[in-house]
Amino acid sequence: MTQYLIEGGSKLSGEIEVKGAKNLVLKVLAGCLLLDEEITIDNVPEIGDVLKMIEILKSLGAKVEKISHGQYTVCAKNLAQTQLDTKLAQGLRASIVLSGPLLARLKEVKITKPGGCPIGQRPIDMFLAGFEALGAETTEEENSFIVKAKKLRGANFIFTRVSVTGTETLIMLATLTPGKTVLKNCALEPEISGLVNWLNNCGAKISGTGTPTIIIEGVEKLKGRNLTIMPDRIEAGTFVVMGLLTESSIKISNCEPHCLEIFLAMVKKTGGSFEIGSNYILTKPVKKLKATDLITHEYPGYPTDLQAPFTLLMTQAEGTSLIHDPIFEGRLFFTDKLNQMGANIIMCDPHRVIINGPTPLFGKKVDSPDLRAGITLVLAGLIAEGQTTIGNVYQIERGYENLVGRLQQIGAKIKGT
Ligand code: EPZ
Repeated sequence: MTQYLIEGGSKLSGEIEVKGAKNLVLKVLAGCLLLDEEITIDNVPEIGDVLKMIEILKSLGAKVEKISHGQYTVCAKNLAQTQLDTKLAQGLRASIVLSGPLLARLKEVKITKPGGCPIGQRPIDMFLAGFEALGAETTEEENSFIVKAKKLRGANFIFTRVSVTGTETLIMLATLTPGKTVLKNCALEPEISGLVNWLNNCGAKISGTGTPTIIIEGVEKLKGRNLTIMPDRIEAGTFVVMGLLTESSIKISNCEPHCLEIFLAMVKKTGGSFEIGSNYILTKPVKKLKATDLITHEYPGYPTDLQAPFTLLMTQAEGTSLIHDPIFEGRLFFTDKLNQMGANIIMCDPHRVIINGPTPLFGKKVDSPDLRAGITLVLAGLIAEGQTTIGNVYQIERGYENLVGRLQQIGAKIKGT
């Protein structure tokens, strides 16, 4: 599919099931390089980024088989090479986490600057500093880094900024590095705990996950243990906003509301209404939403990946809201597309916008600039008057499985062409 055509104004109803977490499965696939035994992974979302990561694993010599929808086996017994395929790696920020396992297994890796969403610079200075802290040498070439590690040993390392993939990459490197590694100022995301719980199941010795200090005792070898990917909390939150925006009652099933506490508290603050079950959220139609300021923050703060849907929600709220995303410098530029559709959003600087609402939205032809802004433009199309055409949908299909089919099922007038 190259674009979506959306007819706005329909009420939605029924149930939409949340798929497996993109930002866990990509790291588990990378973590398979630490093993020389086959494992089976269940509840894998069938999305572009997963297919790309699988291609990279195969280019490195790993064996990956699709058993059924959402179920894959991976075996990295024979790794052929240490160079991440530049073309593939450039399209996927998460490919950077492969550098940890490759360094641990093969003692050398060539990293090109990873790609992914154009939401900011996406530097990798802390990855390189962490590798050097554990005894590796890094040399820079024109558009890549060569990292060599004749002798790795456990060490102390502090992240000068909280980094999700930085934390995951150094945990995976330290897992097979002799000695004790202490990582400080780590990220606390639930997906990191999911990765660590699986690695410990495979025989790793990692403690402190979910806290800023993680201690890893290096082990010789890991055993292959299967796992099921947790539901995607970002997808769940996005669907909650979809229900509120369309003033619909939809059931978002197979999700973990306890991973969305701050998000749900913020939605409640706007006057949004919902019912929470053990593994579902049921949205309730409300007539009026209140303008509410938002600042994103590392977990357990409000997730930057749910900033765009909240920004859209505030265009339909009564009053003035300030949205502040200090984490990335390129995550608010999509608001000019919302303005083209009728919103009233003023950009103060790359990290902050002011929204005056409510404003009716009108269908337009807009291109998806990145994954989370892209899905937000789909939600905007669902409430805009007339037809909205969304281009660059590959950006959206990197992270959302069968989006058109799932939205059609709950009554959305959307089709792919
Ligand atoms: C992960 O990106 C997620 N991606 C992002 O989700 C998410 O937005 C982000 O964490 C924050 O929660 C994956 O897990 C694949 P960071 P990551 O390192 O790890 C700076 C999505 O939509 N930094 O936590 O790349 C960096 O520039 C994606 O699913 C350095 O300065 O983000 C940023 O300002 C988008 N030096 C801040 O840290 C470094 O060496 C946090 O970035 C590394 C990062």
